[in-house]
Amino acid sequence: MTPQYEMLMELLQHRMSTRKLKPDPLPEGAIDKILEAGRWAMSGANAQPWEYVVVTDPAVKKALFENYRNELDEYNFWMEQMRAPELRHPAFHVIGDAKEQLRKLKARPGWDEAPALIVVLGDGRRQWATVMGGHTFGRHQTHFTDALANTCTLMHLAAATMGLGTQWVTIHIEEGFKKVLGVPEVMTLYLIIPVGYPDMAPKEGFRRPLSEITHHNKYDRSKFMSNEQIVEYIYELRGKTMPKYIKAPGAEGDIHR
Ligand SMILES: Cc1cc2nc3c(=O)[nH]c(=O)nc-3n(C[C@H](O)[C@H](O)[C@H](O)COP(=O)(O)O)c2cc1C
Repeated sequence: MTPQYEMLMELLQHRMSTRKLKPDPLPEGAIDKILEAGRWAMSGANAQPWEYVVVTDPAVKKALFENYRNELDEYNFWMEQMRAPELRHPAFHVIGDAKEQLRKLKARPGWDEAPALIVVLGDGRRQWATVMGGHTFGRHQTHFTDALANTCTLMHLAAATMGLGTQWVTIHIEEGFKKVLGVPEVMTLYLIIPVGYPDMAPKEGFRRPLSEITHHNKYDRSKFMSNEQIVEYIYELRGKTMPKYIKAPGAEGDIHR
C-alpha cells in the first residue's frame, strides 16, 4: 500500500469527535490551516457555497452556546423523551424524572469553553452554478448540504492532523445563532465546529465491518436487515457509542450508572 494511503487511514481511524475541549490557546495559525483545508472540498459544479465565521470572543461564544442550550438542547431533549430511554441519542442518557434530566443536561459544561469556534455558513445562491437537475426529483437541497458536509469533514480531518479535537455541533434551528452573528437572512447557518485540545483520553471508535456494508455486482439480499433487525442494531450501536458521549462511565447523569 502507498504511504499516502496508510497516512490517510491512520488519520481517519484516529480522528474522533471530542466533546470536551481545553480552553488552552491554539497553535499560531491553526485555524487558518483548518479553513484552508476546508476550502478545497468538492462541491457540485465547484459552486463552493461555504463561508466561515471564526469566533474567539468569549462573549460571542457564550451567546451562541446559551442559545444552543436553551433552544436546541431543550428541543432535542423533549423529542428524545418520546422513545425508550435506552434507545435515546447518547447525549440524552440521563437519569431522573424529565425535569431533573433537563436540569442535569443544562448543568453540563459546554463547547463555549473551546478557544475557537468555526461557524460554517452556506449561501444557497451559489447553487445556481450547479446542474438544474440537482434541484429536482427528490434531490431538493442535497447538492448544497453535500458540499457543506464535505467542507466540514475536511476541516475535522485537518484539525486532527494537528492533534486538535473538534465536535460536529448540529444546528437544527438556525435563527437564534444567525441573529447573534449578524448573518444575512438569505444564508444558511449549517454547523458549529468547536476546536481545541482534547480534554479526554482517546476512545476506540466503532464502524460497521466492511463485509457487512459491501456488495459485489448485485445487492446481496442476505445482508438486508428487517425493521426489527434495525432496532436491534440501534440497541447494539448505543452500547458502542455511549462511552464517547459520556466522559466517565458511571458519572453523574449516566443512565448506565
Ligand atoms: C450529520 C452529523 C451530525 C452530528 N451531530 C452531532 C451533534 O450534534 N453533536 C455531537 O456531539 N456529535 C455529532 N456528530 C458526531 C457523531 O456523533 C460522530 O461522528 C459519530 O458518533 C462517530 O464518532 P467519531 O466522530 O468519534 O468517530 C454528528 C456527525 C454528523 C456527520
